[in-house]
Amino acid sequence: MDVFLKKNYSMHSIDAYRNEFVTYLKAKIKSKEPHSLYAPILYILDLGGKRLRPVLTLMAAEIFETDYKQALDAALAVEVFHNFSLVHDDIMDDAPLRRGKTTVHEKWDINTGILSGDAMMIMAYQLFENYEPDVFKSLAKLFGKTALEVCEGQQYDIDFETRNDVSEEEYLTMITYKTAVLVAAAMKMGAIVAGTSEEAQNAIYEFGKNLGIAFQLQDDYLDVFGDPKTFGKQVGGDILENKKTFIYLKALVLSNDNNRAKLLNLYAEKGIDADNKVEQVTQIFMESGAADITKKEIENYTIKAFNVLEQINISSEKKLMLKQFGENLMKRKV
Ligand code: IPE
Ligand code: IPE
Ligand code: MG
Ligand code: MG
Ligand code: MG
Repeated sequence: MDVFLKKNYSMHSIDAYRNEFVTYLKAKIKSKEPHSLYAPILYILDLGGKRLRPVLTLMAAEIFETDYKQALDAALAVEVFHNFSLVHDDIMDDAPLRRGKTTVHEKWDINTGILSGDAMMIMAYQLFENYEPDVFKSLAKLFGKTALEVCEGQQYDIDFETRNDVSEEEYLTMITYKTAVLVAAAMKMGAIVAGTSEEAQNAIYEFGKNLGIAFQLQDDYLDVFGDPKTFGKQVGGDILENKKTFIYLKALVLSNDNNRAKLLNLYAEKGIDADNKVEQVTQIFMESGAADITKKEIENYTIKAFNVLEQINISSEKKLMLKQFGENLMKRKV
């Protein structure tokens, strides 16, 4: 991109990016007929959430010296895709709650969740049409690759529910695909819109990927230890679904024989009282030290992300902002 078109953009606050984004979303996504298709789409998008990914897209654009407004459509595409993935994920995970409210498939039904989700995925793709051919092509290419990887990650996640030989490495691949690549792509899209070098695009992608891995580890941790009053999702949901999370895999390794057998048993039985299962498994997660190790691992991946930043040629003010973002993610309770 012509350097003379660029100004030296000073960064906005995270809240400013989020507010601008939400205003844009509300102006752009409106209900129409058939209402039964669009109502669930507005419902899930209006439930809010942290808006983490679109904020990262906007931030990335400005980090690379381009007005965030140019990245709004890409940010919206990422958020609409993310919300699509949540609607389908909640069907797959049999989840009753999302952002403190009834999930789409429980409020309406599974068929509604499937079709409204499908429509959202297409809407996401359409938003890239607002870019010039070169940028459009880069964005659409990255989006296609990422969306397919998310499907792969989601399939691994489901396949692992009924396997008892999942390795830590397999787990990491699974969360990289289901979660981290979208965080990474969200940032790379901002960099693409800014027309920055491929090297910088790839570096910001790596930053986002490591942050995304930390983010999913944290999500798994909060699924067990979150406060039911504020978490917004069913606490213990992963345990009930026999999800092979990092905490679970660590607990298997670190537990004494007695607890290991108990844990395997709890994850093999069907129809065991839900509260009882969650309570017993949570106890083993704590006793084994797996919970603490998971916290440490969240920090490790966050630091890994920070180290990637050192390769990027941006001001220390901008690096600091990205670091603060990563640090806040580690402290989050939802
Ligand atoms: C939930 O993502 C799904 C995961 C990849 C863990 P978020 O925690 O970003 O969900 P919202 O959008 O803030 O509700
Ligand atoms: C979700 O992982 C990843 C995607 C939606 C692609 P989870 O199943 O852990 O997400 P939550 O906990 O339901 O938000
Ligand atoms: Mg889920
Ligand atoms: Mg899931
Ligand atoms: Mg989760």
